[in-house]
Amino acid sequence: MASTANPANIRTAADVLRRGGLVAFPTETVYGLGADATNAGAVARIFEIKGRPAFNPLICHVGFVSQASKLAEFSDLTATLASEFWPGPMTLVLPKSDDCPVATLATAGLNTIAIRVPANEIAHELLATVGKPVAAPSANVSGQISPSMAEHVYASFGDKVDYLLDGGATEIGLESTILGVTGDLVHLLRPGGLTVEDIKKRTGIAVRIADPDPDQPLAPGQLESHYAPRAALRLEADEVETGEALLGFGPDLPVGFETASQFLNLSEGADLREAAANLFDFIHRLDNSGVETIAVVPIPEKGLGLAINDRLRRAAAPR
Ligand code: TXA
Ligand code: MG
Repeated sequence: MASTANPANIRTAADVLRRGGLVAFPTETVYGLGADATNAGAVARIFEIKGRPAFNPLICHVGFVSQASKLAEFSDLTATLASEFWPGPMTLVLPKSDDCPVATLATAGLNTIAIRVPANEIAHELLATVGKPVAAPSANVSGQISPSMAEHVYASFGDKVDYLLDGGATEIGLESTILGVTGDLVHLLRPGGLTVEDIKKRTGIAVRIADPDPDQPLAPGQLESHYAPRAALRLEADEVETGEALLGFGPDLPVGFETASQFLNLSEGADLREAAANLFDFIHRLDNSGVETIAVVPIPEKGLGLAINDRLRRAAAPR
């Protein structure tokens, strides 16, 4: 079962990691399923219990920017992004350093490494106590939606995880923004909790948004059918068909909403941040009601809406 994330339990979790065990823990984005990134056997267990394709590399989490700079080559551009947005919901894909201690399995044999310094206090305490990079994908079975609560993690893995730290609902509720830094270019590999608008505003850096091409995913994990609930999702719905569940956004309700078998509103006030935080939990809840189809109203394609729509499209993709 889950253990409350108090100081004593965080120390226990750190011990479990040091001994090669798996620990699920909250970050400000989603819950991660962590292993000591320098221990290939421990990392292998992540792939095993997630049922994750082995070519899909993992994000290495560290407590401090100074640790991150030992794992990868830091350019001035990288240092600017790191000092502005770490700790926080940003992952950087960087050239691996020559003496990077991370197991090749964690980076899937690539010569780049994805690194993140989470802001969540529990995650920070855990990482600072372990003192080593912790490889952690989102703590869900591969292809299913990401967990924003300890209950979601337990529902996916039960007691297969050695230790589950419960820190309540995550603040952002949607994964980190992944940026690839190559030379003087920054590419958006996955939209997430940090918006390109914010990056531009705070650093002047113009992030390149690559054309979404499902056959050529920039981040290998960006498979089209991902975050898949059991129910089918019908996007951009402007009316509800009888028996469908409804995932709403904003004050306006679609035609026929009263016939919906279930109804949850991501944000009555049309606040994209609130919607992002509710997204995975609400999909979980509607899906668990056993409906065949979840109708989803249109979400604006701006700010966090980019990441929300990205997740929704993947959840809706044919499987
Ligand atoms: O918010 C998050 O990022 C959460 C929390 C736990 O930190 N983690 C997360 O990890 O979403 P995961 O494994 O579900 O997604 C990581 C993504 C995958 O799409 C993977 O392919 C990509 O990062 N990735 C990892 N290393 C990469 C690399 N070297 N080059 C390109 N993409 C990489
Ligand atoms: Mg994931």
